[in-house]
Amino acid sequence: MDALVTHVLGARPNFMKAAPVLRALGERGIPQALIHTGQHYDKLMSDVFFSDLGMPAPDVNLQVGSGDHGAQTGAVLAGVERELQARRPDLLVVYGDVNSTLGAALAAAKLLVPVAHVEAGLRSFDNTMPEEINRRLTDQLCELLFATSAEAVGYLASEGISPGGVHLVGNTMIDTLVACLDRLDVDRAREAHGLAGRYLVATLHRPFNVDHPEAAKQLVTAMHEVADQAEVIIPLHPRGRAAFAGAGLADHPRIRIVDPLGYLDFMSLVRGAAAAITDSAGVQEETTFLRVPCLTLRPVTERPVTVTSGSNRLVDPAGLPAAVAAALAAGPYAGELPPLWDGRSGERIARIVTGWLAARQ
Ligand code: UD1
Repeated sequence: MDALVTHVLGARPNFMKAAPVLRALGERGIPQALIHTGQHYDKLMSDVFFSDLGMPAPDVNLQVGSGDHGAQTGAVLAGVERELQARRPDLLVVYGDVNSTLGAALAAAKLLVPVAHVEAGLRSFDNTMPEEINRRLTDQLCELLFATSAEAVGYLASEGISPGGVHLVGNTMIDTLVACLDRLDVDRAREAHGLAGRYLVATLHRPFNVDHPEAAKQLVTAMHEVADQAEVIIPLHPRGRAAFAGAGLADHPRIRIVDPLGYLDFMSLVRGAAAAITDSAGVQEETTFLRVPCLTLRPVTERPVTVTSGSNRLVDPAGLPAAVAAALAAGPYAGELPPLWDGRSGERIARIVTGWLAARQ
C-alpha cells in the first residue's frame, strides 16, 4: 500500500521529535515513509540518532548537504517536490524549525499535499534567527498544527491560523527522553570522559555565537572563567570548531572538547551534570525535564516555559560566570514541570492523524 503518511527529517534536532510519532503511527498500522533531506550528513550528526532511537532507515536521502540558506532550502524544496510527485502521500509531516522543515512544507503546500507541523506555534519574535522565519512560514502552510504549549496555541490564533487544525499535544522531544530514561548511564558517561567530580556540559553552535571571531572570543573568555569553577565538557558542533579553535577555547586545563555525541551519550552526560550551558533550543527543554540548571547564551527564547516553569535562565557571555556560580549554589531545579510533558505526545498526535485520515476516506 502507498505510504499514507510521509515524514521529512533533515537535521539533528528533528530526529528525537519524530521518533515517538513514527512509533505511535506504526502501532496503529498506518503505512509510513521517511524522507531524509541530508541537511545533516555526518554519522555523529545523523546516523547515530537513528540507531539510538530505534528509528527505521530513511526510504530516501536527498543529500542536500550544507550551503547558504537559499541554496539549502531550495535544494530541499526541489528534492521533496520530486519525491511527493512520485509518492503522493495523504499527509506530509514536518518537525521543528530547520531549513528542511520549511523547504518540505513549501513543496507539499504547492502540490496541495496537506502538511502537519510537529512543534507548531513556537515564537521568539527574533527574526535575526533563521529558525523564527522557518517557524512562522511553515505554520502558515499547514493543515494540522501540533503545539507543545498553550502559549503556542495563542500565537497561532493571533496569526490568523484556523483553530480547527490546531491541537495542543505536548512535547514529542520529551517523549523521547521519557522513553530513553532507563538507558541513560551517568556512570558510564563519566568514565568514558574521565570526569571524576562535579562537571558542566556545554553545547555552542548558533551562528551569532560561533560565526564571528569577536563573539567567539568573548564567549571563550567567559567559558575559561566558568572552567575555573568546575570541569567543562563540550561536545562541539562542526559549525563552531574553527572559530573556537582560533579563539583558544581548549587553552584551559579543565575544558574538554569532544566530537558531537549520540543521543544516549549526550543525554547521559546532561543527566549527571551540575549545570548545562547552551545556545541550543532542545537542550533548554531537556535540562528542565532532567532538573539540571541551564544557562542559555541567547537574548531570547522561543521556549519561555523553560524559564517560567523550568531550570532555564537566559544570560550573555559577560554574565555567564556569575550565573554558573549561582546555579551551582542553588542545585537542581525542584519545581513543577510544564503541562503535558508526560511522554504521551506521540500517541496524541497519532490519534489525531488517524481520525483525520479516516475523515478523508
Ligand atoms: C541547523 C539548524 C539549527 C539547529 C542545528 C542543530 C537551520 C537553519 N539551522 O543548524 O536550527 O539548531 O541544525 O545542529 O536549519 N556540518 C557538518 N556536518 C553535518 C552538518 C553540518 O560538518 O552533518 C557543518 C557544515 O560546515 C555546515 C555547518 O555545519 O555548513 C552548518 O550546518 P547547517 O545544517 O547549515 O546548520 P546548523 O548550524 O547545523
